[in-house]
Parts: sequence; structure tokens; C-alpha cells
Amino acid sequence: MKTQVGIIGAGPSGLLLSHLLHLQGIDSIIIESRSQDYVIGRVRAGVLEQGTVDVLKESGLGTRLEKEGLEHHGIELLFDGIARRIDFPSLTDGKAVTVYGQKEVVKDLIAARQAADAKLFFEAKASKIEGLAEGKPVIHFEKDGEQHTITCDYIAGCDGFHGISRKAIPDEILTVFEREYPFGWLGILAEAAPSSEELIYANTSEGFALHSMRSPTVTRNYIQCAPDDDIKNWTDDQIWETLNRRFQRNGESFHLNTGNIFEKGITAMRSFVTEPMRYEKLFLVGDAAHIVPPTGAKGMNLAISDVRVLAKALTDLYHDGSEEGIDTYSEKCLRRTWLVTRFSWWMTSMLHKFPQDDAFGHKIQVAQLDYATASLAAQTTLAENYVGLPLDL
Ligand code: APR
Ligand code: PHB
Repeated sequence: MKTQVGIIGAGPSGLLLSHLLHLQGIDSIIIESRSQDYVIGRVRAGVLEQGTVDVLKESGLGTRLEKEGLEHHGIELLFDGIARRIDFPSLTDGKAVTVYGQKEVVKDLIAARQAADAKLFFEAKASKIEGLAEGKPVIHFEKDGEQHTITCDYIAGCDGFHGISRKAIPDEILTVFEREYPFGWLGILAEAAPSSEELIYANTSEGFALHSMRSPTVTRNYIQCAPDDDIKNWTDDQIWETLNRRFQRNGESFHLNTGNIFEKGITAMRSFVTEPMRYEKLFLVGDAAHIVPPTGAKGMNLAISDVRVLAKALTDLYHDGSEEGIDTYSEKCLRRTWLVTRFSWWMTSMLHKFPQDDAFGHKIQVAQLDYATASLAAQTTLAENYVGLPLDL
């Protein structure tokens, strides 16, 4: 097969890139190792930055998002029993975030690509990337037991943390920056109405908890747990009791709605950045290049900002012959990646119980949270990062 842009991976990165290129008349082929049902079934995060909402709506993907997305104008930070709200619109010139599950974004993207008769192949696993040093990229992949190749002008490695693209960059060129956090997140989806209109990020003496949601009838909650904890160690009752305890605040009773937990799992927490994000005619996009801890709700949003930069760069190249965009792709995306990695690291460091932390460490965290929610300047800092920094900061 031959195309202009070969895309490995049909997560948010690969699907949105293919969609945006299609709107500019640029041809692509997407190969995805998993089945369509598996890709759609993956449970991931659910908060869209303003910029993510804008690019989805502007590219014709806003119908369900506008109907089912929950626009949120603030979050609550809870620490030492003190609950304080950060307002977004008043601090960010009217910006907000939208709660809309990543799986819904993926469903909308797959539907749009299939409606456009895209060359989107599921259960097609890329095994090798060749020809990068010669300027003639070829993707080798297997489907239905047969070997195939895609000859293309450029390759977008949208194949996530466990993909093959990053490995196609020579070791002597690649630098990896990594930090593992000494805890994980136990996440649940439950048939229960959210217990609060907005998200609650709680720092407690026993650990972090987060209250989120997916719809008026489905709540999404997280509990800090040991990094090697096993979901089998937790009964539903223990999960609800822990959440209820961690969301209590001074002077008012907090009622946690409970219900049937239909999805639960434990994820590790890490920060991971690869430099550079381009090698010859290969571009790393999204989780293939970087991972952020979910505390700042940035994973998918950072992937989509990579896509916005690359789609514009490839459009400028194919339409006007300008290589300025592709030549600055890595530098531009890495700057934003480090800004977002810093925010995600800061939120994680401020809100979680660290094993090595003593009473002094907890007091410093409380002072950080007190300042972040009492000072207008500090609230503005948190709000502008949470709703999403401008692409051209
Ligand atoms: N060949 C084909 N597809 C592959 C291969 C391969 N060798 N290796 C991985 N993939 C696919 C995976 O099955 C997955 O569907 O690439 C896709 C990568 O998607 P994501 O991991 O979702 O990464 P990305 O699209 O960058 O989106 C980032 O997804 O995982 C979340 O938290 C993350 O919210 C962030 C977002
Ligand atoms: C979620 O709803 O899954 C979610 C929300 C905010 C976060 C992380 C996850 O910071």
C-alpha cells in the first residue's frame, strides 16, 4: 500500500490526525493492532481542555460532545478538611473544561473516519519501520496472518507508550526522562449519580482521592493506593468506605452516592518524556512520546495538542511546500510537553501522600494547597494550566 502519511495507532492521536489531514485533502492510512471493540472499550480519562473541545467542534466532531459533554466551570481542592473552589471562567477570560470520556472521543473519531471511507485497519499490528535514514519510510505490518507494507512520505508514530515507533529512533539520538511515582490510582466507574457537581481533588492524611463523573448517572472515582496493589485486595465496600472517608470536610456533611461498580482497575503513575519527537520522516505523537500522571487530566489533551501542531505542519508542507512546521514540530511540542509535565508533576506532588513524607512534608503540602486556593495569583496559575495553556504560549 502507498499513502502520504502512514499512521501507527488508532487512539485519540492517530484518529484525530487522520481526520484533520483528511479535511485538508491529505491521504493517510491508520493501522491499529487491537480490535475496534477493544479500542472503544478502553476506559481512560475524561476531562477535555478548552482547546481540545474547540478542535473537535471546529473539525465537525461536536454533535454528541455538545449534547452529552458536561461543561465544568471549576474544581474543588479539599485538604485538612478545608474545601476551596477554583473558578475557571473568571480567572481565564471565560474558559472552562468539558467532562466527556476519552472513549466517547474515540467512538466519535472512528465513526467520522469510517463515514469518510478512511483506510483504517484494526487488528493490524505494525512490526517494523524501515527506510527512515534513506528518506523512504516503510511500515511493515501483519493482518489476518499476512504480511503487508505501507510506503509513505511520512510516518506518525501514534502507537502509545508500548508501541514500536519510539524504538525506531536510534539510541544515540533518543533521550528519555522518567520519574516513577511511589503510588498508583485505583479507579472505578459506578452506576451512581455524581456526589458533587464538580470534581473534588482531596489530599488527606491517608492519601489522595478524586471524585469525577461521566454522566448524570455514572460517577468516576479514584483512590491513591500502593503502586503494586492488586484490585483483588479491595472489596466494593472498602472502596466506597475509603472514598467516603476521604471526601469528608469540616463543618458540613458530605454524602457519597454509591452504586454498582461496573469497572475497576489500578494504574501506575509516571512522568515520561522522549526527546526528540522527530527523527527523519518519523514523528512521535501523544503517548508514544510522553506520559503524564493523570492528576492534571492532561494525557489526552497533550496528545491532541501534538496532533494540532503536526496536522498544521503537514498541511503547510503539502499545500505550500513549507517545511518550517515539520522542522519545528519537535521543539514546539516538547516545550508544551514540559510545561504540561511540570503542571501534572506539581498537582501530583501537592495532592498525594508520599511514603517518605513526614509531618513537615504534609505541612508543606497543606501550605501549598492553602496558597494555591487563597491567593488570586496562585488560583490563576492553577486555572490557566487546568483549562489548557494556549498552543502558542
Ligand atoms: N501496531 C499498531 N497499533 C499499535 C501498535 C503497533 N505495533 N502498538 C500500539 N498500538 C496502538 C494501541 O493499541 C493503541 O490503540 O496504538 C494506540 C495508541 O493509543 P493510546 O495509547 O491511546 O495513545 P494516544 O493515541 O497517544 O492517546 C493518548 O490515550 O492512553 C491514553 O492516557 C492516554 O489519554 C492519553 C491518550
Ligand atoms: C477522570 O474523570 O477520569 C479524571 C478527571 C480528572 C483527572 C483525572 C481523571 O485529573
